[in-house]
Amino acid sequence: TGYITYDPGFVNTGSASSAITYIDGDQGVLRYRGYPIEQLAQRSTFIEVSYLLIYGELPTAAQLEDFTQKINRHTLLHEDLKRFFDGFPRDAHPMPVLSSAVSALSTFYQDSLNPFDEPNVELSTIRLLAKVPTLAAYAYKKSIGQPFLYPDNSLGLVENYLRMTFGLPAEPYEIDPDVAKALDLLFILHADHEQNCSTSTVRLVGSSEANLFASISAGIMALFGPLHGGANSAVLEMLEGIKADGGDVNKFVERVKNKEKGVRLMGFGHRVYKNYDPRAKIIKQTADDILRKIGGGDELLDIAKALEERALSDDYFVERKLYPNVDFYTGLIYRALGFPTQYFTVLFALGRLPGWIAHWREMIQDPQTKIGRPRQIYTGEKQRDYKPVSER
Ligand code: CMC
Repeated sequence: TGYITYDPGFVNTGSASSAITYIDGDQGVLRYRGYPIEQLAQRSTFIEVSYLLIYGELPTAAQLEDFTQKINRHTLLHEDLKRFFDGFPRDAHPMPVLSSAVSALSTFYQDSLNPFDEPNVELSTIRLLAKVPTLAAYAYKKSIGQPFLYPDNSLGLVENYLRMTFGLPAEPYEIDPDVAKALDLLFILHADHEQNCSTSTVRLVGSSEANLFASISAGIMALFGPLHGGANSAVLEMLEGIKADGGDVNKFVERVKNKEKGVRLMGFGHRVYKNYDPRAKIIKQTADDILRKIGGGDELLDIAKALEERALSDDYFVERKLYPNVDFYTGLIYRALGFPTQYFTVLFALGRLPGWIAHWREMIQDPQTKIGRPRQIYTGEKQRDYKPVSER
């Protein structure tokens, strides 16, 4: 009709209808398939939440058993895919490594290419849930030069991942149940967040009828950015920077308020939450508990708390309704668990995986889906005539 609504950043544009996740940003409410995040965090498990997001209901005992067994059957990587890691430099950032490896799944499983072949979509779903933790663990092993460990399918999903990440072939790996529980909880809290940047990317790529692996590989790259999932690493770098600079949070907050180029309070603010992010509340408590139990990073936790308190009592943040988001305290926990800073966003990706899958599947089955193709406001030159190079 010649009329275009201009909405950069899609601040006020709905791109899909979805039955997966509900957020009330003013009240700080988050629910997956109707279940409050607080209840799932306290009582559920990541594998159960993955099932809930993808299939719409909490599994019965038999469904959970079947789902777990199916995932266990697919945790191994093709031996050729393992060699894929050899080609990357050892100090490569693990996010592009992970995205490339997920992209490569399309080459190993060419049965995945038709997005409307439901049995194969189901198989791709299971393959992703099973293999992405293995790929993530190998990205880490590659970075420190240690051998890859085969998965041990007698273990749960998170325990298996921890063993492949921190275990060694020559010695038994003792899984600390507190560590496994903390990571499981963090994965639950990251599992979905409706039309965020990476999920919208998964849907947009998928709207061209690209397969699940291709779409999720693109989603991983969207998550990489520091304004999205990369914020969890950026927060830790910020806290280390404040510590190195004498630990004065006031000085840092002044730099943020003065809008110094590139200086933002990382882990604060959100497009949808104009209240305390309900995930951040739970994570703050977990950071307290886990750091007390396993130790490490206490000084940075103190700086983080002082920073939060300082920001929440400052007009700049109050007026703009900027509160801690999911990324503010996670890095401290990941660090205490032994993960290097550069690797934190991979943990976000592991958590978000079932959400991406659920959205891709919802999108592909939705009769309203059309290829995503926004319009633009053209601001370039009017028509002009070509001149040969001798006349320019
Ligand atoms: N520090 C300082 N000022 C901020 C911040 C911040 N973290 N976030 C927003 N503002 C200011 C911004 O400068 C603007 O001020 P003004 O009106 O004077 O120009 C106002 O608040 C509104 O911000 P915006 O950039 O228009 O908000 P947005 O909805 O486009 O951006 C955001 C949301 C999350 C990208 C942004 O808040 C941000 O950059 N936060 C820091 C990065 C971060 O923590 N990201 C993780 C987000 S949650 C998990 C995830 O998605 O991965």
